Amino acid sequence: MIQIENLTKYYGLLKAVDNVTFTVSKGEVVGFLGPNAAGKTTTLRIITGYFPPTTGKVRIGDYDVMDKPIEAKKMIGYMPENPPLYTDMTVKSFLTFAAKIRSIPRKIRKESIEKAIELSGLTNHVKFIIGHLSKGYKQRVALAQALLHDPEILILDEPTAGLDAKERMDLLNMIHEFIGKKTVVLSTHILADVEKVCNRVIIIHKGSIVAEGSYEMLSSSVTENDRFALTVLRNDDEVEQELRLIDGIINITRNQDNPKRFTVESIKDLAVKEKVAKVLVEKNYGLIELSPSRLPLEEIFIELTKQ
Ligand SMILES: Nc1ncnc2c1ncn2[C@@H]1O[C@H](COP(=O)(O)OP(=O)(O)OP(=O)(O)O)[C@@H](O)[C@H]1O
Ligand SMILES: [Mg+2]
Repeated sequence: MIQIENLTKYYGLLKAVDNVTFTVSKGEVVGFLGPNAAGKTTTLRIITGYFPPTTGKVRIGDYDVMDKPIEAKKMIGYMPENPPLYTDMTVKSFLTFAAKIRSIPRKIRKESIEKAIELSGLTNHVKFIIGHLSKGYKQRVALAQALLHDPEILILDEPTAGLDAKERMDLLNMIHEFIGKKTVVLSTHILADVEKVCNRVIIIHKGSIVAEGSYEMLSSSVTENDRFALTVLRNDDEVEQELRLIDGIINITRNQDNPKRFTVESIKDLAVKEKVAKVLVEKNYGLIELSPSRLPLEEIFIELTKQ
Protein backbone atom coordinates (compact mmCIF):
# COMPACT_ATOMS: atom_id res chain seq x y z
CA MET A 1 0.00 0.00 0.00
CA ILE A 2 2.90 2.35 0.84
CA GLN A 3 6.24 1.81 -0.85
CA ILE A 4 9.19 3.98 0.00
CA GLU A 5 12.41 3.58 -1.91
CA ASN A 6 15.77 5.11 -1.14
CA LEU A 7 14.35 8.28 0.29
CA THR A 8 16.86 11.00 1.11
CA LYS A 9 16.10 14.52 2.24
CA TYR A 10 18.54 17.35 2.77
CA TYR A 11 17.69 20.61 4.49
CA GLY A 12 20.59 22.69 3.20
CA LEU A 13 23.59 20.68 4.29
CA LEU A 14 21.73 18.65 6.91
CA LYS A 15 20.80 15.15 5.82
CA ALA A 16 17.56 14.63 7.76
CA VAL A 17 16.56 11.38 6.00
CA ASP A 18 19.23 9.07 4.66
CA ASN A 19 18.34 6.44 2.06
CA VAL A 20 15.22 5.14 3.77
CA THR A 21 13.40 2.18 2.24
CA PHE A 22 10.36 0.38 3.64
CA THR A 23 6.91 -0.84 2.70
CA VAL A 24 3.65 -0.97 4.57
CA SER A 25 1.02 -3.50 3.53
CA LYS A 26 -2.71 -2.99 3.43
CA GLY A 27 -4.33 -3.21 6.84
CA GLU A 28 -1.09 -2.96 8.79
CA VAL A 29 -0.66 -0.57 11.71
CA VAL A 30 3.03 0.23 11.74
CA GLY A 31 4.87 2.09 14.47
CA PHE A 32 7.44 4.57 13.20
CA LEU A 33 9.62 4.97 16.19
CA GLY A 34 12.59 7.22 16.75
CA PRO A 35 14.11 9.73 19.15
CA ASN A 36 13.85 13.49 18.60
CA ALA A 37 15.29 14.70 15.30
CA ALA A 38 15.41 11.15 13.92
CA GLY A 39 13.64 12.17 10.73
CA LYS A 40 10.12 10.88 11.46
CA THR A 41 8.18 14.04 10.58
CA THR A 42 10.33 14.64 7.50
CA THR A 43 9.63 11.13 6.20
CA LEU A 44 5.89 11.43 6.89
CA ARG A 45 5.73 14.81 5.18
CA ILE A 46 7.30 13.29 2.08
CA ILE A 47 4.84 10.37 2.16
CA THR A 48 1.91 12.78 2.32
CA GLY A 49 3.26 14.88 -0.53
CA TYR A 50 3.79 17.92 1.70
CA PHE A 51 7.21 18.37 0.11
CA PRO A 52 9.37 16.29 -2.23
CA PRO A 53 12.40 14.26 -1.19
CA THR A 54 15.84 15.26 -2.44
CA THR A 55 16.06 11.80 -4.01
CA GLY A 56 13.97 8.63 -3.83
CA LYS A 57 10.44 7.50 -4.56
CA VAL A 58 7.15 7.09 -2.73
CA ARG A 59 4.26 5.05 -4.08
CA ILE A 60 0.83 5.20 -2.51
CA GLY A 61 -1.27 2.35 -3.87
CA ASP A 62 -0.80 2.63 -7.64
CA TYR A 63 0.34 6.25 -7.59
CA ASP A 64 3.70 7.93 -7.39
CA VAL A 65 3.29 10.81 -4.94
CA MET A 66 5.33 13.19 -7.09
CA ASP A 67 3.71 12.27 -10.43
CA LYS A 68 0.11 11.87 -9.24
CA PRO A 69 -0.11 14.00 -6.09
CA ILE A 70 -3.87 14.52 -6.15
CA GLU A 71 -4.71 10.84 -6.61
CA ALA A 72 -2.20 9.84 -3.92
CA LYS A 73 -3.44 12.47 -1.44
CA LYS A 74 -7.03 11.28 -1.90
CA MET A 75 -5.97 7.99 -0.39
CA ILE A 76 -4.33 9.56 2.65
CA GLY A 77 -5.67 11.03 5.88
CA TYR A 78 -2.94 13.03 7.61
CA MET A 79 -2.75 14.09 11.20
CA PRO A 80 0.32 16.32 11.39
CA GLU A 81 2.56 16.80 14.40
CA ASN A 82 0.86 20.00 15.58
CA PRO A 83 -2.50 19.78 13.88
CA PRO A 84 -3.66 23.15 12.56
CA LEU A 85 -7.17 23.76 13.91
CA TYR A 86 -9.33 26.88 13.84
CA THR A 87 -9.76 27.25 17.55
CA ASP A 88 -12.68 29.68 17.42
CA MET A 89 -14.83 27.33 15.34
CA THR A 90 -17.06 24.62 16.77
CA VAL A 91 -16.12 21.01 16.12
CA LYS A 92 -19.01 20.59 13.69
CA SER A 93 -18.38 23.79 11.75
CA PHE A 94 -14.67 23.06 11.48
CA LEU A 95 -15.31 19.55 10.16
CA THR A 96 -17.90 20.87 7.72
CA PHE A 97 -15.38 23.43 6.51
CA ALA A 98 -12.69 20.73 6.18
CA ALA A 99 -15.12 18.48 4.28
CA LYS A 100 -15.81 21.28 1.80
CA ILE A 101 -12.09 21.91 1.29
CA ARG A 102 -11.69 18.18 0.72
CA SER A 103 -14.39 18.49 -1.98
CA ILE A 104 -16.48 15.78 -0.38
CA PRO A 105 -19.65 15.82 -2.51
CA ARG A 106 -22.61 17.54 -0.87
CA LYS A 107 -24.68 14.35 -1.13
CA ILE A 108 -22.43 12.39 1.21
CA ARG A 109 -20.96 15.28 3.21
CA LYS A 110 -23.26 15.06 6.22
CA GLU A 111 -22.86 11.31 6.46
CA SER A 112 -19.04 11.56 6.11
CA ILE A 113 -18.84 14.13 8.88
CA GLU A 114 -21.04 12.08 11.17
CA LYS A 115 -18.99 8.96 10.60
CA ALA A 116 -15.72 10.80 11.33
CA ILE A 117 -17.27 12.27 14.50
CA GLU A 118 -18.35 8.85 15.66
CA LEU A 119 -15.00 7.16 14.91
CA SER A 120 -13.16 9.90 16.81
CA GLY A 121 -15.41 9.75 19.86
CA LEU A 122 -16.68 13.31 19.41
CA THR A 123 -20.42 12.64 19.40
CA ASN A 124 -20.99 14.60 22.61
CA HIS A 125 -18.69 17.47 21.65
CA VAL A 126 -19.89 18.62 18.23
CA LYS A 127 -21.09 21.98 19.54
CA PHE A 128 -17.94 22.75 21.54
CA ILE A 129 -15.63 25.56 20.50
CA ILE A 130 -12.35 23.84 19.57
CA GLY A 131 -10.32 26.29 21.69
CA HIS A 132 -12.28 25.19 24.77
CA LEU A 133 -11.48 21.49 24.32
CA SER A 134 -8.77 19.61 26.21
CA LYS A 135 -5.63 18.64 24.30
CA GLY A 136 -6.93 15.08 23.93
CA TYR A 137 -10.18 16.25 22.37
CA LYS A 138 -8.33 18.64 20.06
CA GLN A 139 -6.37 15.62 18.87
CA ARG A 140 -9.65 13.82 18.27
CA VAL A 141 -10.79 16.71 16.09
CA ALA A 142 -7.56 16.40 14.13
CA LEU A 143 -8.18 12.67 13.76
CA ALA A 144 -11.76 13.30 12.62
CA GLN A 145 -10.44 15.75 10.01
CA ALA A 146 -8.07 13.05 8.74
CA LEU A 147 -10.92 10.53 8.52
CA LEU A 148 -13.45 12.71 6.69
CA HIS A 149 -12.87 11.30 3.20
CA ASP A 150 -12.65 7.73 4.53
CA PRO A 151 -9.03 7.33 3.37
CA GLU A 152 -7.43 3.91 3.02
CA ILE A 153 -4.26 5.22 4.63
CA LEU A 154 -3.77 7.17 7.84
CA ILE A 155 -0.53 8.96 8.60
CA LEU A 156 -0.43 10.00 12.26
CA ASP A 157 2.52 12.06 13.44
CA GLU A 158 2.88 11.72 17.22
CA PRO A 159 -0.87 11.75 17.85
CA THR A 160 -0.45 11.09 21.57
CA ALA A 161 2.24 13.72 22.30
CA GLY A 162 1.40 15.71 25.40
CA LEU A 163 -1.74 13.76 26.35
CA ASP A 164 -2.52 12.49 29.83
CA ALA A 165 -2.77 8.75 30.43
CA LYS A 166 -6.54 8.52 29.98
CA GLU A 167 -6.67 10.59 26.80
CA ARG A 168 -3.69 8.67 25.40
CA MET A 169 -5.41 5.35 26.04
CA ASP A 170 -8.67 6.56 24.48
CA LEU A 171 -6.89 7.74 21.33
CA LEU A 172 -4.84 4.54 21.09
CA ASN A 173 -8.00 2.46 21.44
CA MET A 174 -9.48 4.33 18.49
CA ILE A 175 -6.36 3.71 16.43
CA HIS A 176 -6.41 0.06 17.47
CA GLU A 177 -9.85 -0.25 15.85
CA PHE A 178 -8.25 0.49 12.47
CA ILE A 179 -6.17 -2.71 12.43
CA GLY A 180 -7.16 -4.67 9.32
CA LYS A 181 -9.41 -1.84 8.11
CA LYS A 182 -6.97 0.95 7.33
CA THR A 183 -3.27 1.12 6.66
CA VAL A 184 -1.73 3.20 9.42
CA VAL A 185 1.70 4.69 10.02
CA LEU A 186 1.95 6.02 13.55
CA SER A 187 5.03 7.97 14.51
CA THR A 188 5.95 8.29 18.14
CA HIS A 189 8.78 8.19 20.60
CA ILE A 190 6.52 6.67 23.22
CA LEU A 191 7.38 3.00 23.21
CA ALA A 192 4.29 1.88 25.08
CA ASP A 193 2.12 3.35 22.31
CA VAL A 194 3.53 1.17 19.57
CA GLU A 195 3.50 -1.79 21.88
CA LYS A 196 -0.22 -1.30 22.36
CA VAL A 197 -1.40 -0.78 18.80
CA CYS A 198 1.19 -1.75 16.21
CA ASN A 199 1.84 -5.12 14.65
CA ARG A 200 5.21 -4.01 13.31
CA VAL A 201 7.79 -1.43 14.24
CA ILE A 202 10.22 0.54 12.11
CA ILE A 203 12.94 2.26 14.10
CA ILE A 204 14.61 5.31 12.61
CA HIS A 205 17.65 6.98 14.07
CA LYS A 206 19.65 9.90 12.67
CA GLY A 207 17.78 9.61 9.38
CA SER A 208 18.40 5.88 8.84
CA ILE A 209 16.32 2.80 9.52
CA VAL A 210 18.14 0.83 12.20
CA ALA A 211 15.62 -1.98 12.66
CA GLU A 212 12.33 -3.24 11.38
CA GLY A 213 10.05 -6.12 12.26
CA SER A 214 7.87 -7.64 14.92
CA TYR A 215 8.97 -7.25 18.54
CA GLU A 216 10.26 -10.81 18.52
CA MET A 217 12.44 -10.09 15.49
CA LEU A 218 13.72 -6.86 17.01
CA SER A 219 14.40 -8.59 20.28
CA SER A 220 16.39 -11.37 18.66
CA SER A 221 18.34 -8.82 16.62
CA VAL A 222 19.82 -7.36 19.80
CA THR A 223 20.16 -10.52 21.88
CA GLU A 224 20.96 -14.13 21.14
CA ASN A 225 19.42 -15.31 24.38
CA ASP A 226 16.04 -16.72 25.29
CA ARG A 227 13.75 -15.02 27.77
CA PHE A 228 10.80 -16.43 29.62
CA ALA A 229 8.59 -15.48 32.52
CA LEU A 230 7.51 -17.77 35.32
CA THR A 231 5.34 -17.43 38.38
CA VAL A 232 5.25 -19.63 41.47
CA LEU A 233 2.92 -19.65 44.46
CA ARG A 234 5.46 -20.38 47.22
CA ASN A 235 9.03 -19.97 48.49
CA ASP A 236 10.19 -17.41 45.95
CA ASP A 237 13.60 -16.87 47.58
CA GLU A 238 14.32 -20.58 47.44
CA VAL A 239 13.09 -20.67 43.83
CA GLU A 240 15.62 -18.00 42.91
CA GLN A 241 18.44 -20.00 44.50
CA GLU A 242 17.37 -23.19 42.70
CA LEU A 243 17.16 -21.40 39.36
CA ARG A 244 20.67 -19.99 39.79
CA LEU A 245 22.01 -23.54 40.07
CA ILE A 246 20.74 -24.53 36.63
CA ASP A 247 23.35 -24.52 33.85
CA GLY A 248 22.57 -22.16 30.99
CA ILE A 249 20.71 -19.54 33.04
CA ILE A 250 22.25 -16.13 32.45
CA ASN A 251 20.12 -13.74 34.46
CA ILE A 252 17.13 -13.77 36.78
CA THR A 253 15.05 -10.74 37.72
CA ARG A 254 12.08 -10.54 40.04
CA ASN A 255 8.98 -8.55 39.22
CA GLN A 256 8.93 -5.42 41.39
CA ASP A 257 5.23 -5.67 42.17
CA ASN A 258 5.14 -9.43 42.48
CA PRO A 259 8.32 -11.11 43.77
CA LYS A 260 6.86 -14.50 42.89
CA ARG A 261 7.08 -13.62 39.19
CA PHE A 262 10.50 -14.03 37.58
CA THR A 263 11.95 -13.11 34.23
CA VAL A 264 14.67 -15.52 33.26
CA GLU A 265 17.28 -15.04 30.57
CA SER A 266 18.96 -18.21 29.40
CA ILE A 267 21.00 -19.60 26.53
CA LYS A 268 18.86 -20.69 23.58
CA ASP A 269 18.37 -24.33 24.53
CA LEU A 270 15.05 -26.02 25.22
CA ALA A 271 16.75 -28.33 27.72
CA VAL A 272 17.20 -25.33 30.04
CA LYS A 273 13.49 -24.57 30.05
CA GLU A 274 12.68 -28.24 30.57
CA LYS A 275 15.04 -28.35 33.54
CA VAL A 276 13.48 -25.22 35.04
CA ALA A 277 9.97 -26.67 34.77
CA LYS A 278 11.12 -29.99 36.21
CA VAL A 279 12.81 -28.45 39.27
CA LEU A 280 9.90 -26.16 40.05
CA VAL A 281 7.33 -28.93 39.76
CA GLU A 282 9.37 -31.54 41.64
CA LYS A 283 10.00 -29.17 44.53
CA ASN A 284 6.31 -28.30 44.61
CA TYR A 285 6.73 -24.53 44.44
CA GLY A 286 3.34 -24.14 42.76
CA LEU A 287 4.39 -23.28 39.21
CA ILE A 288 1.41 -21.49 37.68
CA GLU A 289 3.03 -19.76 34.71
CA LEU A 290 5.89 -20.46 32.31
CA SER A 291 5.64 -18.32 29.20
CA PRO A 292 7.90 -16.82 26.53
CA SER A 293 8.90 -13.25 27.17
CA ARG A 294 10.76 -10.67 25.15
CA LEU A 295 13.18 -7.90 25.83
CA PRO A 296 11.26 -4.79 26.87
CA LEU A 297 10.88 -2.54 23.84
CA GLU A 298 12.64 0.15 25.85
CA GLU A 299 15.81 -1.94 25.99
CA ILE A 300 15.63 -2.89 22.31
CA PHE A 301 15.23 0.76 21.40
CA ILE A 302 18.17 1.92 23.50
CA GLU A 303 20.34 -0.92 22.22
CA LEU A 304 19.55 -0.12 18.57
CA THR A 305 20.02 3.64 18.88
CA LYS A 306 23.00 3.80 21.17
CA GLN A 307 25.86 4.10 18.69
N1 LIG B 1 12.08 22.62 7.69
C1 LIG B 1 13.27 22.30 8.19
N2 LIG B 1 14.37 23.01 7.89
C2 LIG B 1 15.59 22.67 8.37
N3 LIG B 1 15.83 21.63 9.17
C3 LIG B 1 14.78 20.87 9.52
C4 LIG B 1 13.44 21.17 9.06
N4 LIG B 1 12.60 20.24 9.57
C5 LIG B 1 13.35 19.41 10.30
N5 LIG B 1 14.66 19.77 10.28
C6 LIG B 1 15.77 19.05 10.94
O1 LIG B 1 15.81 17.74 10.38
C7 LIG B 1 16.06 16.75 11.37
C8 LIG B 1 14.92 15.75 11.40
O2 LIG B 1 13.76 16.42 11.86
P1 LIG B 1 12.33 15.74 11.97
O3 LIG B 1 11.39 16.80 12.37
O4 LIG B 1 12.05 14.98 10.73
O5 LIG B 1 12.58 14.72 13.18
P2 LIG B 1 11.53 13.94 14.10
O6 LIG B 1 12.01 12.54 14.17
O7 LIG B 1 10.16 14.20 13.62
O8 LIG B 1 11.77 14.61 15.51
P3 LIG B 1 10.75 14.94 16.72
O9 LIG B 1 10.62 13.69 17.53
O10 LIG B 1 11.45 16.03 17.47
O11 LIG B 1 9.46 15.39 16.12
C9 LIG B 1 16.25 17.52 12.67
O12 LIG B 1 17.62 17.71 12.88
C10 LIG B 1 15.54 18.85 12.41
O13 LIG B 1 16.12 19.88 13.16
MG1 LIG C 1 8.50 15.02 14.46
